[in-house]
Amino acid sequence: MSINIFKLEQYLAKYEFSAPYLLCCSDAESFSMREIIDMANPENKALWDELRLGYTECWGMPTLRAQIAISLYPTLQASNILCFAGAEEGIFCALNILCQEDDHIIVLTPCYQSLAEVPKSKGTTITEIELREENSWRIDLLTIERAIRANTKCIVINFPHNPTGQVITQQELTALISLCEAHDLWLFSDEVYRLLGNPNQPWAACAAELYPKALSLGVMSKAFGMAGLRIGWIACQDVELLKKVESMKHYTSICNSAPSEVLSLIALQNKDKILARNNQIVAHNLMLLDDFMQEYADIFSWVRPQGGCVGFIKYKAKETVESLAEKAVDNHGVLLMPGSIYEHSGNHFRIGFGRKNMPDSLAKFRDLLSTI
Ligand SMILES: Cc1ncc(COP(=O)(O)O)c(C=O)c1O
Repeated sequence: MSINIFKLEQYLAKYEFSAPYLLCCSDAESFSMREIIDMANPENKALWDELRLGYTECWGMPTLRAQIAISLYPTLQASNILCFAGAEEGIFCALNILCQEDDHIIVLTPCYQSLAEVPKSKGTTITEIELREENSWRIDLLTIERAIRANTKCIVINFPHNPTGQVITQQELTALISLCEAHDLWLFSDEVYRLLGNPNQPWAACAAELYPKALSLGVMSKAFGMAGLRIGWIACQDVELLKKVESMKHYTSICNSAPSEVLSLIALQNKDKILARNNQIVAHNLMLLDDFMQEYADIFSWVRPQGGCVGFIKYKAKETVESLAEKAVDNHGVLLMPGSIYEHSGNHFRIGFGRKNMPDSLAKFRDLLSTI
């Protein structure tokens, strides 16, 4: 198997732990272990205290799988949930199973690179459909329909979208599922940013609850702010498909970290409290960004994000965004994510606003802008 360098992860590996002002993070503010353990009910506190650090079940701890279903996919059962080490392992295992050499798949771009790269590494034919800023980065169902071929196997989507923060409406998702149904296609729906942010309309349902051939990807990393746990999952009605995906996990992590499973269980049982705190931070930061975008309207523009905690800002100056990002990190310690990392050519950069210290990072970015 040959697979290309993961540009975004390579970029983050270079700067994420050295640049002091991360202005492109895609996760919400984290929690300390103590904060999570303090939220545990007596039963889970005992589970934590007496936890043995042996191997765990490949599919995930049964009570965690049940809790994921109860908290996030109420029409599904624990048996419909397969856990992974983060969302990334879920992408790797599922797309390795779904995408073969003779297949064709449709992926919306710009995208988190593995959504396209894993199928490419399998020799799968890919049609990349670019979301367009003129269309507010929204899904274009007509273009998707026109791209479907006889051997199309799967459509890959990600909403709320990284890097634009745009969402899919219930109406759009229902129409997309009808299209998948009509052509008997799998739908891989990366929903890792779902429930983070304060969209204008209610969240669209999870694809896996609506369609038997949909896989909904979820994770503790984004809305819950617990990326270090490395707990993600795929929800799917089709347990036979999940068993095939499980067979890939035997070659990757085998099973999840036992402490992370218990911490995830406690966090999911306290979902409302955790999401309320994180969405408050996101709402506050987005308000600051509204002012910022107004102040710098001569050089920056965006389609205001609707969900998640990232947005895609167009840099309207003659200078390239790569040059701006280099100055930001080298001279001011501010990390931006140039759109070229996503192979996007529009002179955009990703900004992240899920962290509590985002206002400090924005102030440092302003320092740079005052010198331009
Ligand atoms: C759209 C999308 N999917 C999946 C992932 C991977 O998530 P995790 O770090 O939890 O594995 C990311 C991470 O940024 C992402 O943005």
